Parts: sequence; C-alpha cells; structure tokens
Amino acid sequence: MPDTPTRKLRSAEWFGPADKNGFMYRSWMKNQGIPDHEFDGRPIIGICNTWSELTPCNAHFRKIAEHVKRGISEANGFPVEFPVFSNGESNLRPTAMLTRNLASMDVEEAIRGNPIDAVVLLTGCDKTTPALLMGAASCDIPAIVVTGGPMLNGKLEGRDIGSGTAVWQLHESMKAGEIDLHQFLSAEAGMSRSAGTCNTMGTASTMACMAEALGASLPHNAAIPAVDARRYVLAQMSGMRAVEMAREGLTLSKILTRDAFENAIRVNAAIGGSTNAVIHLKAIAGRIGVALALEDWTRFGRGTPTLVDLMPSGRFLMEEFYYAGGLPAVLRRLGEHGLLPHPGALTVNGRSLWDNVREAPSFNDEVIRPLDRPLVADGGMCILRGNLAPRGAVLKPSAASPELLRHRGRAVVFENLEHYKARIVDESLEIDASSVMVMKNCGPKGYPGMAEVGNMGLPPKLLRQGVKDMVRISDARMSGTAYGTVVLHVAPEAADGGPLAAVQDGDWIELDCEAGRLHLDIDDAELAARLEAIAGRAAPATGGGYQRLYVDHVLQADEGCDFDFLVGCRGAAVPRHSH
Ligand code: FES
Ligand code: MG
Repeated sequence: MPDTPTRKLRSAEWFGPADKNGFMYRSWMKNQGIPDHEFDGRPIIGICNTWSELTPCNAHFRKIAEHVKRGISEANGFPVEFPVFSNGESNLRPTAMLTRNLASMDVEEAIRGNPIDAVVLLTGCDKTTPALLMGAASCDIPAIVVTGGPMLNGKLEGRDIGSGTAVWQLHESMKAGEIDLHQFLSAEAGMSRSAGTCNTMGTASTMACMAEALGASLPHNAAIPAVDARRYVLAQMSGMRAVEMAREGLTLSKILTRDAFENAIRVNAAIGGSTNAVIHLKAIAGRIGVALALEDWTRFGRGTPTLVDLMPSGRFLMEEFYYAGGLPAVLRRLGEHGLLPHPGALTVNGRSLWDNVREAPSFNDEVIRPLDRPLVADGGMCILRGNLAPRGAVLKPSAASPELLRHRGRAVVFENLEHYKARIVDESLEIDASSVMVMKNCGPKGYPGMAEVGNMGLPPKLLRQGVKDMVRISDARMSGTAYGTVVLHVAPEAADGGPLAAVQDGDWIELDCEAGRLHLDIDDAELAARLEAIAGRAAPATGGGYQRLYVDHVLQADEGCDFDFLVGCRGAAVPRHSH
C-alpha cells in the first residue's frame, strides 16, 4: 500500500473499519465510481468551493477546483469537493457581510461532520476569504487558501479602469456634470471583462494578500490573475501540498499565530489594504484563539510606508502588481528594512515567511515602490477614539486627503441610508466643503449587516463646485475599492446605544488622525441627556429568520462582527456515528 500515513487520520474513523459502519460510509461513496483501492487510508482532502453564478467573482471556481483535484490525486490524496454558501459582494442584499458568519458556520460544520483530513479553501470575493478561514480555524485542521485571482485590468476608451473605483469616480463625474449617462454606462462591460475578483486593492485583493501574509497560502497566491495559466499551476501545487499537510498534521493553529497576525497588519499598511481587513482579521483571530486589539493596528501598522501603488489609493491594478513581483516582492522589501515583525513565522509550505521571499524579485519600482519613495509615508490604518467612538473607529489615510486628516467642522446628520439619499440631492441643504457628513444606523445591528455605505457620495451642488472630498463619519463599512476621508466602523454603533446616535445637525466635530481622536464637541451632561432621550428608540427592526439570529448575536465592529457564540476554536474531534 503506497504512502501509508504515519498519523491517524480523521477519515479513517469513517472509511477504515471493516464493519457495518465502514460498509455504509464506503458504499454510498462508491456510487460516484470510486474504486475499492482508493479507500486505502490515503488522506481525504476537502475542496471547499464557493462557486456560484450569483457570485461572479467566483464563477470560474469549478475549473480551479479541477486543478486542485489534479494536485491532490498526484500526491495520492483523495479529493472531495463540496459547496458552501457563496457570499457574492455584488448581488447580495442588504449586504454580503450579513451572511459572512452564516457561511463560516456552514464551513465549520461541513468540515467537522465529514471525513476530511485537510481542506483547500477556494476563496475569492470579499467575504468568502474570511468566512472560510473563520470556519476552518474553528476546526483547526490543516487548511490552505487558494484564491480565484483578480480580473484583468478594466478598460475604458483605451485607459485602465479599476473595479469599483471606476464606479465611484465616474458616478461623481456624472453628478458634477462632466460626463453623461451614456458615457457612465459605457464603462460597464469594460470594467469587468474577465473572470476573477476586483482588480483594485479592494477587499478581495486585500484579503488574498492577508491570507498570503498570514502564511495560509502558497507564495504568489494573492496576485496571479484569474485567467493566467499560472493560477491553475498554483491551484495544482496547493492541492499537492494539502495532502502533505494532512500527513504532517500542519493545522491552522500552527500557522495563524499571534506573530502571523502582526505580520499581516504590517503588510496591510504596505499594500494600502482595505479597512475591512480590520474586522475580518479580528474575526479570524478570534476563531483560532489569538487576541487582537484595535490598538495592534496602531502598534504594527502606523509608520509603515505604503509601497504598493494600486487603486484606490494609487495608480495601478492587480495585473501590474503580479507582473511587478506580487506580494513576495513587497514582503522582501519590508524584511530587508527590518519591517517584517516576524520573518520566521511558519507558512503552509512548511517554510518560514522569510525563506519564501528572501530572493523574491521586483520588476517595477513604480508599482512596488522602494522604501525611500513610498506612495504614502505612513499608510497604517488610523484608529480613532473619543466620546463619539468610545470603542473605536477606523480611517484609511492612504485613501484620504492629507489636509482633512485634522479637521473641525459642523455636522450634517443623516438618520439612515434612505435619509441620506433623500437629503443629499436637496439643493437647499445647508452644507459646504467644511461640513462633516454623519450617517447613523448602518452598523452591524442597525442595517443590519454593516453595509458598505460609509463613503457617502458628496452633495451634487458641491461636486459641481469642484469639491473632491469631505469628512464623513458613520458606523458603516466602506468598499475596499472606495476612497475619501471617511471615518468608519464607529463603535458602539448608533443602533446599539452608541453616542453617534446623539449627533445633531450643527454640532461641531473634531477629527485628529495624528492624535487618534474623534470628538463631538458637546459636554458630557448634554451627551448623556441626549442619549437618555433616545434610549430604546433605536432598537433595530427585524423580522425573524437568520436576520433575527444576526441582530441578537452579532458583536460590534471592534470585536470583528462575529457572533458571540461562534468565537473560539472548537476543534475537529470526530462526532459520534450517524447510524
Ligand atoms: Fe467580488 Fe469585488 S465584488 S471581489
Ligand atoms: Mg468590495
């Protein structure tokens, strides 16, 4: 018998025994045409597939899965592909974030309840990466991430346009009267012209980079374009590696250490990554038992130069990023300047992060900038606190206007998204470029699901005057493809009794990113009285079903928006028999 594993594998509890139970587990599997000799104790490798035609970013995943299977079979493993809830960012309403935790539960239970020794996580669109890592982390089995890869560069009239970012830019141009509706709509097909995820450094690309920086994928996983043949090679190699990981018992808790998260936070600053990573990394860490605080983003992120010149912060797209050397080139650059906190962190290929990248070449200093010529000198996520956000808020300086990072202005308040939409087009609205736009009730409970609506578009009348940016504050999230001086993730949220609920039109608000301060300029007694007056009024309205479970159990943004009962690692002990 070839390759008899030295470790006792989980799958042996199903397919090993020559008894009634073994008969039943094997017999039904054999209806798929699996011959007797494949039940010889070889590792069973799950391929957790988020394929769905409703998740266009992951719609090519059947083909990726075929290449993963090839690798698994080549290494004498037994591939079993299974579907999980697919969180597509573009179609799912009210927001794909609402079902991130649902998908993570799906993944966790599918892994633990089935004869799986290691799992390949096929991730792509924004929420699929954290959902699958969260579920697998709660099982702590060997797992490797294979990302679907970014789309080719978008094209419009001969120039490159970026996923999402082009939508925000063109929409603002239309509202400013610079282009017409026909020109706006003509960008649709050219923006999304190949399989893959958003080609900007949005949340999908960010989370793919986070998985690679955490050591949870093979080098280069983050950036190889979806349609590049090398994406399929990486899928095959990952399948092969998963079989070895099952044999070695290289479980996620050996990869997803505190050190790994500190590396990832540093890397997020260097790539100009999405604010969503703050929430997702916290949730993943919580599942594996690593304590992360918002202040860790200050400790390991602040002062880190942004080297990757990608939209929305910079100029280029993921295609150029890959051709310039991809994440390994960034990691090498950081490491050579002593900016990788833990170069020795273990990765899924059994080598350290530094061993993987120490000789990684760079091919384009415009795309991956040298340290003495960064895109942004300090690209670390800015963590804010104050009487307006006692449990924190987040701002991405690389996507903001430097002159607004310290600002005092009068609030223009929107009670919710619909109120914003109705009010912002009112030409008589009292608002100018120095105003601070404040939106409430878009947090985890309030929306529900904490939608990506924090980058409120500016009032058309100000756009026509040439205003490009204003300070915006909310308990919402923002698409990783978006930009602006936008304060997000205010915690606690308005719908959970947070002080954001007390802000009124005309209040003075102070933002000071350097000092990490977000202050509502009213005295404590007045704030308390206002909150008292509205107490109970903000209770989020939900029907039943999953939304009810969500609102009752979701944690606030500073805690990663996981469900209270899902935090933690529950392991992969084999459950009792089903019959
Ligand atoms: Fe799926 Fe951007 S919408 S990756
Ligand atoms: Mg997104």
